[in-house]
Amino acid sequence: MVKANDNYLKLPGSYLFSTIGKKVREYSAANPDAKIIRLGIGDVTQPLAPAIIDALHGAVDEMAARETFKGYAPDLGYEFLRNAIADNDYKARGCDITADEIFVSDGAKCDCSNIQEIFSLDNKIAVCDPVYPVYVDSNVMAGRTGTYDAKTETWSDVIYMPCTAENNFAPELPKETPDLIYLCFPNNPTGSTITKAQLQEWVDYANKVGAIILYDAAYEAYISEADVPHSIYECEGARTCAIELRSFSKNAGFTGVRLGFTVIPKELKAGDVNLHALWARRHGTKYNGAPYIIQKAGEAVYSEAGKAQLKQQVAYYMNNAKYIYDGLKSAGFTVSGGVNAPYIWLKAPNNMTSWEFFDYLLTNVNVVGTPGSGFGPSGEHYFRLTAFGTYENTVEAVDRIKKINL
Ligand code: MLT
Repeated sequence: MVKANDNYLKLPGSYLFSTIGKKVREYSAANPDAKIIRLGIGDVTQPLAPAIIDALHGAVDEMAARETFKGYAPDLGYEFLRNAIADNDYKARGCDITADEIFVSDGAKCDCSNIQEIFSLDNKIAVCDPVYPVYVDSNVMAGRTGTYDAKTETWSDVIYMPCTAENNFAPELPKETPDLIYLCFPNNPTGSTITKAQLQEWVDYANKVGAIILYDAAYEAYISEADVPHSIYECEGARTCAIELRSFSKNAGFTGVRLGFTVIPKELKAGDVNLHALWARRHGTKYNGAPYIIQKAGEAVYSEAGKAQLKQQVAYYMNNAKYIYDGLKSAGFTVSGGVNAPYIWLKAPNNMTSWEFFDYLLTNVNVVGTPGSGFGPSGEHYFRLTAFGTYENTVEAVDRIKKINL
């Protein structure tokens, strides 16, 4: 008789943002007049930049003519996009990454959940705590995480690296040696960053112990400080220990358009197995490439006009981040993040749990955020607000939160 993959049955609850969405929908149905402001999921609100819209229109027209129509995309991505990425995201930053080390996809969420497939189930993963839930859940689905302890909300075979106020929300090297290390900087959810020297320590450590770092740099466009690395390949030795995951969602507003990429240097190995070849094999078998139209839009991100327009878009969101940070700090909240990242991480007042504060804000001031405990046990008593709302909603949300009397 057919059996389901029982690893899925081990997953506690539903995906964090689905749970939040359900709660908000229920509240909204019961309170149809409530003007709810959503600063929960990190979803963008500004329209696509004009240079991107022009590229989309142009590509649609190409699809309408026999001479320029495109069928299947090359499974690793069109050369024009891979070259633009290599030149702008890597060569321009002094990183030794070539176009044929870039694998274009329909987004970093899929890549960061799929990448574990090319590693043995025996590998032990290390994650920050709190962490973007996709890294852990995708390993649960694969059967790599052991058993779940509902009391501690941890998996027996996962190494957790607490990121707390005490360590400035930056993980310390783990005591137990991992095989795969997930790092995300600027960080989701805490909005923290590490310096290039700190990241170099991780690269040196990974090379020493033979681990691989899965580096999620989805938020690099939000970096405002000079000493914060935009790519792990800025560090010496990263080519032999790191895979980088990138997204067009946050730097260019592609959450609804879908485009991302993964970088695997040619010399990266697990034992004596070449990982670039393995991921190419996986991509070729399971994926038919991001659509031509979308890859043309991605190319426009790197045009002079696109770069200038997106700089403004990022500045718009970072202005929201500053408004949230300054507003809540002046109201007496303990806040961090928001300087190199579009997320503000705040302590729930009066020792409330993260979910208690979520419910309080939803029902009392109709503001939605993300409970920190949803990202892991060390996120308990914390709360995340995103800067991706409109400026008007951001201002109103902060003003409403400032008025609460707790
Ligand atoms: C988040 O809110 O953490 C992100 O938007 C989720 C994602 O990028 O998939």
